[in-house]
Amino acid sequence: MEKLEEILNQGLSAFEAIENPADLDQVKSRFIGKNGALTELLKGLGKLSAEERPAAGARINEVKDKLEQALAARRESLREQQLQAQLAKESLDVTLQGRGAGRGGMHPVTRTLERIEALFHSIGFEIAQGPEIETDFYNFTALNIPDNHPARAMHDTFYVDAQHVLRTHTSPVQVRYMQNNPPPLKIIAPGRVYRCDSDVTHTPMFHQVEGLWVDENVSFAELKGILTDFMQQFFERDNLRTRFRPSFFPFTEPSAEMDIGCVICGGDGCRVCSGTGWLEVLGCGMVHPNVLGHVDIDSEKYIGFAFGLGVERLAMLRYGVNDLRLFFENDLKFLKQFN
Ligand code: PHE
Repeated sequence: MEKLEEILNQGLSAFEAIENPADLDQVKSRFIGKNGALTELLKGLGKLSAEERPAAGARINEVKDKLEQALAARRESLREQQLQAQLAKESLDVTLQGRGAGRGGMHPVTRTLERIEALFHSIGFEIAQGPEIETDFYNFTALNIPDNHPARAMHDTFYVDAQHVLRTHTSPVQVRYMQNNPPPLKIIAPGRVYRCDSDVTHTPMFHQVEGLWVDENVSFAELKGILTDFMQQFFERDNLRTRFRPSFFPFTEPSAEMDIGCVICGGDGCRVCSGTGWLEVLGCGMVHPNVLGHVDIDSEKYIGFAFGLGVERLAMLRYGVNDLRLFFENDLKFLKQFN
């Protein structure tokens, strides 16, 4: 019986000392397991007399119950401790102030596109669109660039298959629009275009805005007037100088390229304008009768002009960005400046 008290006390303090739930079962077996101290005592019952045996047995069971209760209590308190520790670790302070919703900004190319669209919309141009995967016919043939014409080599074309290309310019939208809409018509067609070209001033994808105005008496003078006005408003400079140089495009005749006085140096000559004081900003001209012929518009009755401008180039000039690639790297430090 003395041994029993000792086992009880030892067991209670051993259980109390357990810190790791994984040790519970091992310590349990030392006291109430098959080979535990209590079982040893039970085996010794046979040595007692028949009168002593029931009381001793009952006493051993009592101790066993107490040990089991103590063990269960320890198990429970360890579980509780563990839970509290986990809760403390994962706690969220729901009363903390929020970080607030960060404000995004429009991509500079998108901003430029919207600015161009708004300016042309204000003088009555509708917006038209066409597919980026274009047939050879719309991208070239219908624009008076037949097979094997050297002008095809001016465009470093991405071919999808023998008949399809990634459009190299937005001019095919002219053809598609004229096929579906009788004149008079007055549209701009903004969108992505693709050329197999990549260096400091060229990316394989860039944006153009095409312009087309077809009516019974549209003139080259009007083309010059509209584009000059547009550039002055786009750059917010009333005194912006412009000039039109003769050029060549198969789908316009006559054709011209438009320059503006360098908006970086004001015309004195700098790196951006290669010292010339002028910046080339777009191609334009009077729609070639062959193009009108492809879409069954009577070129004796109707006349039109078209132009195509590069959006990234205008964005660089307006925002003073000196590397075209910045527009496509998605560096937040760059983009955030346009918020
Ligand atoms: N499509 C021509 C280009 O990408 C630009 C252009 C458009 C020229 C319309 C004349 C008329 O270079």
